[in-house]
Amino acid sequence: METGCLVCAEDIHKSFNGVRALKGVSLFVPQGEYVAILGPNGAGKTTFVEIIEGIQTPDRGSIRIKGLSWKKNAHELHKIMGLSLQETKFFERITTLETLRLFASFFELGESRVQEIIEMVNLRDKVSARTVHLSGGQRQKLALGLAILNRPEVLILDEPTTGLDPSARREIWNILCDLKAKEKTSLILTTHYMEEANFLCDRIIMMDQGLIIKEGTPEQLLKESGKANLDELFIYLTGRGLSDETVSKAN
Ligand SMILES: Nc1ncnc2c1ncn2[C@@H]1O[C@H](COP(=O)(O)OP(=O)(O)OP(=O)(O)O)[C@@H](O)[C@H]1O
Ligand SMILES: [Mg+2]
Repeated sequence: METGCLVCAEDIHKSFNGVRALKGVSLFVPQGEYVAILGPNGAGKTTFVEIIEGIQTPDRGSIRIKGLSWKKNAHELHKIMGLSLQETKFFERITTLETLRLFASFFELGESRVQEIIEMVNLRDKVSARTVHLSGGQRQKLALGLAILNRPEVLILDEPTTGLDPSARREIWNILCDLKAKEKTSLILTTHYMEEANFLCDRIIMMDQGLIIKEGTPEQLLKESGKANLDELFIYLTGRGLSDETVSKAN
């Protein structure tokens, strides 16, 4: 186990009816680091982050967050984690404001935090709208607002900007940048947008077929590969298949 890590995921394996979604994935995230997980559809990103979030249990491997485990310390972990899933479902018949107040009550947070979040995610003019009537971008902003409501030490966002227009995406980036400047939050984010990973994150993890195939800072990855940009690197890495070395590590 690495020292100084807030999130320590070690040698995580997971299969679904013979499909090996994760074949031994490890990730160590210190306090305050922003990490992006990239990879093609089906690479195992959601499975991996849902295991860190305690939503799924691994077949093998260990998860420790601040030294705590989901098995023994679920209550404590819920207090320090914030998350948004790849597809967020809200209670459709209640409003944005009621949704925020409901979640705030779970954490015993008062109205002032609810109002602060409404400002942060810029949903002032939608407070009275039922969640069923929110647009895709507004839903993503509400999901992010709920995820950061309890000032989490660890924030995990599964494709928070997929399907958003460029300005809505920028809005989410700005909220996350503000958070990085003001709090000591660690972020694990999955995305299909190289620009997003590059803009927001200190480190990029590339996954394919249930394995980490490359990781490093955006600068390191580009320098090492000689590619002009991260899109090219992604296509190069995932298009050529896995190296013999990576495959042998998985078996
Ligand atoms: N509950 C499940 N039952 C069966 N197979 C599953 C289940 N969850 C995931 N899988 C399989 O595990 C693999 C990894 O899926 P996962 O959702 O983790 O990928 P992903 O990298 O998040 O993909 P995407 O970019 O499309 O969101 C896929 O082959 C998927 O079909
Ligand atoms: Mg996914």
